[in-house]
Amino acid sequence: GVRIGSAADGRGLSLDPAYSSLLGTEFNAMTTENAMKWRNLEPLPGVYAWPGADQLVEFAERHGQEVYGHTLVWHSDMPKWVSPEWPAERIRTELRDHVTEVVSRYRGRVWAWDVVNEVLDEDGSLRETLWLRKLGPGYIADAFRWAHAADPGARLFINDYGIEGRTRKADALLALVRDLRRDGVPVDGVGFQSHLAWDEPPRELTRNLRRFADVGVSVAITELDVRVELPVTPEKLKRQAAVYRQVLKSCLAVPGCVSFTVWGFTDSRSWIPGYHRGYGAACLFDADLTPKPAYLALVDELSRH
Ligand code: G3I
Repeated sequence: GVRIGSAADGRGLSLDPAYSSLLGTEFNAMTTENAMKWRNLEPLPGVYAWPGADQLVEFAERHGQEVYGHTLVWHSDMPKWVSPEWPAERIRTELRDHVTEVVSRYRGRVWAWDVVNEVLDEDGSLRETLWLRKLGPGYIADAFRWAHAADPGARLFINDYGIEGRTRKADALLALVRDLRRDGVPVDGVGFQSHLAWDEPPRELTRNLRRFADVGVSVAITELDVRVELPVTPEKLKRQAAVYRQVLKSCLAVPGCVSFTVWGFTDSRSWIPGYHRGYGAACLFDADLTPKPAYLALVDELSRH
């Protein structure tokens, strides 16, 4: 019952049959890595560029995969035309229209949405964003209500990083989710991004997932990758495999864990080298699409269940 997914950017999908074939056969779920970010969806006010996202959704449907939509409300990757100078009312209307437009378009075709992404700071306070500054903390509940109204059947997630262990941020997120649910806000799940490193396995992941599940929400591993410090060695790949396996084990150990998603599956398309200097090789397959020890570890772990 646990979905096994990968993020996919989608560009060049049809030009790379070897990549598409693995994407379509190894996974039964897919997250839109970039195509559903606001900046990419609505480059000009009111002018939507759907083809990138449509193409991924159609690919997923052709391959019997469920789609995890990423992401409706994020402080990053905003279109330039959304101006911080606008009055609060205008900002609120634009945000509401965006959420409604996107969720309605894919109504019944996206099983889960990252409704809000990365709304907390490391210390657990709400992140200083345009949304918080202009609309106050209520924007989070509003976003969930708008999304729910547009597709009552979609599972609605709050997604973040740095919450895999029992950090202050994780504690704060747990409290936030509890409060939202107490107020009747339709939050169905919490996404644990899990951008990890080969030499830092998360501590207490299983216990942490469990305490979220205990408040009645689903949990999901949403963006797993395990970066390796270059140069890559067989020993590092072995330790990387152990981290991948540990995260899968934790998900399988918690009944509320509904999906396990890697943030891309090949080193040739990973975001890591561009953002983490000196690191790479974070995925299950190398740049030539050869499975790495991490892939074999996951297959082995799944075969035990
Ligand atoms: O669109 C241009 C393209 O036209 C150009 O050819 C290319 C050349 O560099 O850049 C293109 O866009 C880049 C895009 O990735 C596609 O590769 C953007 O500049 C770049 O910022 C973008 O990075 C993405 C990043 O989010 C920011 O949106 C990564 O692929 C994506 O993996 C990463 O994903 C985030 C999640 O959304 C949230 N959690 C953290 C995670 C990792 O940062």
